[in-house]
Amino acid sequence: VTALPVSLSARFKGSFAYFTVKDRLPQILTKTIDTLHRHKNEFFEEYGEKGVEAEKRAISFLSKLRNELQTDKPVTPLEDELPDAALWNQYLEYQRNLSDGNGEPSWFQSPWLFVECYMYRRIHAALAQNPPIGSFDVFKEGKAQNFFESQEAIIALCTYFQELLKNIKDLDEKQLQGELFKLLQVSLWGNKCDLSFSAGEKSSQKSSPLQCLEDMVPYIIVNDMEKLWSLLINAKKRNTDKCNVRVDIILDNAGFELVSDLVLTDFLLSSKLADEIHFHGKSIPWYVSDTTKSDFNWTIKQLQSANHMWMSRCGINWEGNLKKGVWVYQDHMFWTLPHIYSSMAEVAPDLYADLQRSNLLLFKGDLNYRKLTGDRKWEYTVPFHQALNKFHPAPLCSLRTLKSDTQVGLKPGQGEQIQASEPEWMVSGKYGIVQFDATP
Ligand code: F6P
Ligand code: MG
Repeated sequence: VTALPVSLSARFKGSFAYFTVKDRLPQILTKTIDTLHRHKNEFFEEYGEKGVEAEKRAISFLSKLRNELQTDKPVTPLEDELPDAALWNQYLEYQRNLSDGNGEPSWFQSPWLFVECYMYRRIHAALAQNPPIGSFDVFKEGKAQNFFESQEAIIALCTYFQELLKNIKDLDEKQLQGELFKLLQVSLWGNKCDLSFSAGEKSSQKSSPLQCLEDMVPYIIVNDMEKLWSLLINAKKRNTDKCNVRVDIILDNAGFELVSDLVLTDFLLSSKLADEIHFHGKSIPWYVSDTTKSDFNWTIKQLQSANHMWMSRCGINWEGNLKKGVWVYQDHMFWTLPHIYSSMAEVAPDLYADLQRSNLLLFKGDLNYRKLTGDRKWEYTVPFHQALNKFHPAPLCSLRTLKSDTQVGLKPGQGEQIQASEPEWMVSGKYGIVQFDATP
């Protein structure tokens, strides 16, 4: 057994993790505080003085958090009584034992993934501990704005898709494959539009999402779309009435990306490549733009009531899919814990067992990739299967644009070659992967 490579961490000065903990995370906290300030009047109107007091307490909690972060204080146990607090505190204990001799776990010394997740959990606590504003989502506005600013791209995508549905029954296998590849790529590049990346700055889809796919193919540095196709078409051929083909999608960001995921999964159903889709969202606001149940429902409602025939047609169909139970939305506390996926079987055996019932798991986005591969300094050429480190509930595929400095499964020399001309290639979001692991 060879030792695992080290975790990405802000203790490596000059790394992207360092830059993130030093600059980007405090920026996100500052924005969060501003957002609460801006809603003061609203809180007052709704809840009177109690609302304003709650807002003040939440803000002072967040300022304290920002100060702890910027001065590299030890990471403290959670003091709230939310259902996941004990698991977080156990994980902190585990980090303490890891860092034996290196002092207490702290913002700039501990693994980046851990402290970053911890920040979002503390933002949640700042609100959850302060009723009556306990369920206020500080990131909601930004997510909605991303959706509205991507309006034209959404219209273009819905229109394309509704046209496609008209003759989907007449498509031969080759054509079906072509359409699948297109919608996979739209969903892949949809992952550029996340808001934690730009610290909440504008990050919407402006151009038509279908037009430039061809030109972007060279930027897909691992492209296993053919393997995905074989899995789906073989499952379809084997499929009898008794066994449904189930595809799960572990969602990432709301806004344009979510719409692109909904179109992709609608395609899987409409083409009969799948019979049932399970969506996995976040149970608390997470990494600025990640999809919660409320975002999921809101998005479908927005489409339904849109003033555009094809947009609303999509929304109506999707609402129908949920009602019929061929689309299922689920969430689980595990997705917002700091744990990497190789510990899912132990930490959340119920979720692991559920995923084992799926024919294919699609993991969207960068954070999911980091958790799949353990957020470590892997050699680029290490096989994906190995980096998954025994996380193999079902065949799985990552659709991710590169926004953090970890990547596996490249050909010898491939990473070095891109690096030579583009030093920022791993964190710019310009490159993407469709990376598949077939086991079990
Ligand atoms: O580093 C960029 C970042 O903010 C990371 O913290 C995180 O991995 C990622 O973006 C979130 O991106 P995504 O929404 O694709 O998971
Ligand atoms: Mg995200």
